[in-house]
Amino acid sequence: MYYKNILEVIGNTPLVKINKLNPNPKVVMLAKLEFMNPGGSIKDRIGLPLIERAEKMGRLKKGGTIVEPTSGNTGVGLAMVAAVRGYKTVFVMPDKMSEEKRNLLRAYGSKVVVTPTAVSPEDERSYYRVSDKIASENSNSYKPDQYSNPANPETHYRTTGLEIWEQTEGKITHVVIGMGTGGTISGVGKYLKKKNPKIKIIGVDPVGSGYDHYYRTGKMPKLFKTYKVEGIGEDFLPETMDFSVVDDVVVISDKESFLIARQLAGKEGILAGGSSGLALAAARKVIRKLKTGLMVVILPDSGKNYLSKFYNDDWMRDFGFLDEKNETIKKLLNKKLHFITVQSAATPAEAVKLMRQYQISQLPVVENKKVVGTLTESILIKSLYGNSKIPVSVAEIMDRDFISLPETASETQLAQALKEKEMVIITDKQGKPLDVLTRIDFLSNFSV
Ligand SMILES: Cc1ncc(COP(=O)(O)O)c(C=O)c1O
Repeated sequence: MYYKNILEVIGNTPLVKINKLNPNPKVVMLAKLEFMNPGGSIKDRIGLPLIERAEKMGRLKKGGTIVEPTSGNTGVGLAMVAAVRGYKTVFVMPDKMSEEKRNLLRAYGSKVVVTPTAVSPEDERSYYRVSDKIASENSNSYKPDQYSNPANPETHYRTTGLEIWEQTEGKITHVVIGMGTGGTISGVGKYLKKKNPKIKIIGVDPVGSGYDHYYRTGKMPKLFKTYKVEGIGEDFLPETMDFSVVDDVVVISDKESFLIARQLAGKEGILAGGSSGLALAAARKVIRKLKTGLMVVILPDSGKNYLSKFYNDDWMRDFGFLDEKNETIKKLLNKKLHFITVQSAATPAEAVKLMRQYQISQLPVVENKKVVGTLTESILIKSLYGNSKIPVSVAEIMDRDFISLPETASETQLAQALKEKEMVIITDKQGKPLDVLTRIDFLSNFSV
């Protein structure tokens, strides 16, 4: 058995039970792994229907160009169709999307145009308007527009919704779906409601997007915040979004989305994207309140697109998304017996004598009871040997660019400082020096 081309491989993605991350085992939680589609996301499903509709309407002729604003995944879905059917592709992407996603589209032979994220949809620089302009300036080009094209929700009605119903043998009671264009939730919701109106359709919105506000008030908010989860949320109401099939909307933050996505990889072995984390975080909130049932949560794309983003600790730290052990450094201070310092007027020879006497490799330099610099063995070697003018006082050679931290600082702050400097001066709340912590002081804290 074989498939006639890659497009036939799309769909029929597996449902996999979530075990450790299901906080309520009385209710079964199943994840639909949409990243198992050949192009790596749920958007593979809509590529062919969008193009076939255009072909039928005579809007796309042989050798034509497909132009689409996309957060990346729809681009891959369309690029696969374009490759098989001989079309060219130009994709317009907001600049917040990952570099991996841009490169991915280029790998399929597509042209990628990058536009600013923080502009309104009506702004001529927005990815919607830029794609309109490119499409109107090129003859024999077509913009499928996943935000208004009925083929988008229809595909999910015919495929994703039907698959979920059949795979759960009609036992599904809840489905949790992140909302981007709304195509998935509108199509899946309509299909499942038709099969059993009691099935609860739960939409998920990132903090900063307007869907939740719209759902509750019937109006889009005037102000939006930017957020980091990709492919999800909206600042206008697309035609493909049908709230009549939605029973509730849950709002989830970037931090919650990313932390749970990382746990999904580490605890369940499922490497999924940020919008999957968003959906899973919402599913976990909803499932806690249920007594029985069977919940399906859709995981739209793979974590491989985000290795340099939320799967990277430094990236997470930069945005304050990591829950690190924020113990203060106080317990390290107690271990030190003496706080040895040298006066700024002391000679280098006196500093060396102190170092030998106390068997230490660095010294804070003080003046009027305040630390004014630091002295290390390497500074002393550099200034005493191979230097024709021997310095009179340590003030001449000390490192004035030292780091000091209050005793209430966290271990993480200390670690960061010690990556830069060999020692860090620790002060009390008033700035009075209390101690000096070195790299080995910090490392000893972790020894067994
Ligand atoms: C990663 C990701 N998750 C979720 C979605 C949302 O799906 P839909 O547009 O069907 O609402 C998208 C849409 O682009 C996406 O790229």
